[in-house]
Amino acid sequence: MDIPNRPDVEDWETDFDHLHNDYATDPYSIWKEMREGGCPVAHTERFHGVYLPTRHEDISAIAHDTDHFSSKSVLVNDVPVTEIGDFSSPPITSDPPEHQDHRRALLPAFSPKAIEKWIPITRDICNELLDEFSDNGYCDASADYAQHIPVKVIARMIGIPEEDGDLFRKWVHDLLEVGPTDLNVAHEATREVFAYFGEYLKERRAEPRDDIVTYFIESEVDGEPMDDGQILGGLFLLLLAGIDTTWSSIGSSFWHLGQHPQDRRRLAEDDSSYDSAVEEFLRFYSPVTMARVVTEEVEISGTTLCPGQRVLLPFPSANRDTEFMEDAETFKIDRQENRHSAFGLGIHRCLGSNLARMEIKVALEEWFRRIPEFELTDPNMVWWSRGQVRGPRCVPLRW
Ligand code: HEM
Repeated sequence: MDIPNRPDVEDWETDFDHLHNDYATDPYSIWKEMREGGCPVAHTERFHGVYLPTRHEDISAIAHDTDHFSSKSVLVNDVPVTEIGDFSSPPITSDPPEHQDHRRALLPAFSPKAIEKWIPITRDICNELLDEFSDNGYCDASADYAQHIPVKVIARMIGIPEEDGDLFRKWVHDLLEVGPTDLNVAHEATREVFAYFGEYLKERRAEPRDDIVTYFIESEVDGEPMDDGQILGGLFLLLLAGIDTTWSSIGSSFWHLGQHPQDRRRLAEDDSSYDSAVEEFLRFYSPVTMARVVTEEVEISGTTLCPGQRVLLPFPSANRDTEFMEDAETFKIDRQENRHSAFGLGIHRCLGSNLARMEIKVALEEWFRRIPEFELTDPNMVWWSRGQVRGPRCVPLRW
């Protein structure tokens, strides 16, 4: 895709680059080497200085420590921390004490009860997609199926046309994959998203509907109605947080199932196995790595972290740490106890987790109802997105 190659990495412990192709293709062996090879906290001078802890214990400690770490910049990019400006996308970029109020405004729209009503709609969406290719005997499970499900669901929830899906995915790609190294692209995408949502905000103020834009207009933060900036920031976040993440999880699930006949049969034959399977897919192929800014000097596993630098929190690495979980490096479709951190840890824990879990489960259930047997055709065609949300962007299957 339209992302330039990154300069070679000489040493992953002192010069890592989370946007490098090798990291996108196989970050697991890099993390394992760091976790187990005596470098629990790696560092790079790239991106104005970034730390990379890889053990569950350290990632959890940082995610829970809002005294030394701030969320004001959750994406690592070429902008120095001192020049971040006041762009915010609450609650993900909020720190205490404001965070709690910002989060509270969103919670009701994503409660288990609120998500229940979207189950039949998601089933219909999956079946409409399956109608397009189920008789063909092959498809790209990422491009033809996984990528459309979260886009269509979140578009309907927000109250914007799902036909604009290509536009949303372009913005997410520009912001998450190209933007970190090309700020003009990031700024242009941000401007377009705000202009797009600005129109819907005007419309809903004039004519309220049963959707999230209207819900935000009627919500309060700190006892005051949300202003336009807060509403646009919230909508921007939902689009950014809800699309690539779930697309990646659904895509990795099919990538795995296309290569593991036993796990495939288990889902095809046992309806009760979906819940534990979804948790294991989330754990083993966690897509999201978030960042923090160090605000005060602090020591983590023997490394002193300096204020003004950033820290990546690779939750996928925490999830494969054998010090934290037994057999963490083995995929077990029926794993019983599964305290994974795919949705993060601490106060910023994913607000959309009920929605994401529902979408992944329904995507699998509806697929298996119609295509119980399938396999990966050509592993060489599979490629993975780069950056802080990782998932397969091509998963060719046949049946
Ligand atoms: C498999 C899918 C998903 C994964 C793996 C995921 C993962 C995460 C993670 C790791 C965080 C923590 C961020 C941090 O610590 O800085 C987070 C936060 C968040 N996620 Fe998700 N997410 C997913 C889907 C969704 C969906 C579908 C939505 C809603 C449309 C959503 C909305 C949010 C929001 C609003 C936050 C910020 C919460 C806060 O700051 O209090 N996510 N997500």
